[in-house]
Amino acid sequence: MAHIEGNTLSIDIGGSGIKAMVLDRSGEPVTERQRLDTPRPATPEAVLATVAELTGHFGDYERVSVGFPGVVRFGVVSTGVNFDGDWTAVPLAGAISEITGKPCRAANDADVQGYGAIAGSGLEMVITLGTGMGSAMFTNGHLAPNLELGHHPLAEGRTYEEWIGEAARLQLGDEVWKGWVRRAIDTILPIWNPETLFIGGGNARLIDFELPSGVRVVENVAGILGGIRLWEDEDH
Ligand code: BGC
Repeated sequence: MAHIEGNTLSIDIGGSGIKAMVLDRSGEPVTERQRLDTPRPATPEAVLATVAELTGHFGDYERVSVGFPGVVRFGVVSTGVNFDGDWTAVPLAGAISEITGKPCRAANDADVQGYGAIAGSGLEMVITLGTGMGSAMFTNGHLAPNLELGHHPLAEGRTYEEWIGEAARLQLGDEVWKGWVRRAIDTILPIWNPETLFIGGGNARLIDFELPSGVRVVENVAGILGGIRLWEDEDH
């Protein structure tokens, strides 16, 4: 693990809001969390303009971490299926580095959420329940990047995201939606056999049924706290 000095500005770009806060080197928040609505249409230009407005509220940080709801390779976004416009080659880390004047690392939102949740031993998985369904996998604390389980078929020709994303929840109602969340968990566990499966994202708060052993709901703030670990993992 790399040791970092000074504070980190951690940004979480989501389908409904863009959130940010500054963390100290141990991951403790040193500011309140600020949030702005995600602009719609969520084009690269509009999202970057909102990020610029949000980052203007903060000073006193040495680096920036950002989680984005799509595939991010080496700081460049290549998909943004729940966003608008062309996200096929957006140099997100570079653009935010220009906006803030600080080095920036960008990763998939579920990956960042996972960094904030995992214990760092064995195989650990994360799914996030929000606008879309995010997924992440770690072995001994190291990220296996680009897992997009949300777009894999789950049942009846529909993907995980089509059953347990926000559009499905609104359409099916909470009770039926929860049944599908349970079905997704029961499908994931015997395939990957994780030590722990963490469930994050805003809609995780709706889970009121008993979870199988080894499955835990994580606080939504993990999406922000993971920003510090993104800088500690030498794989990035
Ligand atoms: C995207 C993922 C993202 C997830 C949660 C999905 O639609 O493809 O990359 O992690 O939504 O935001």
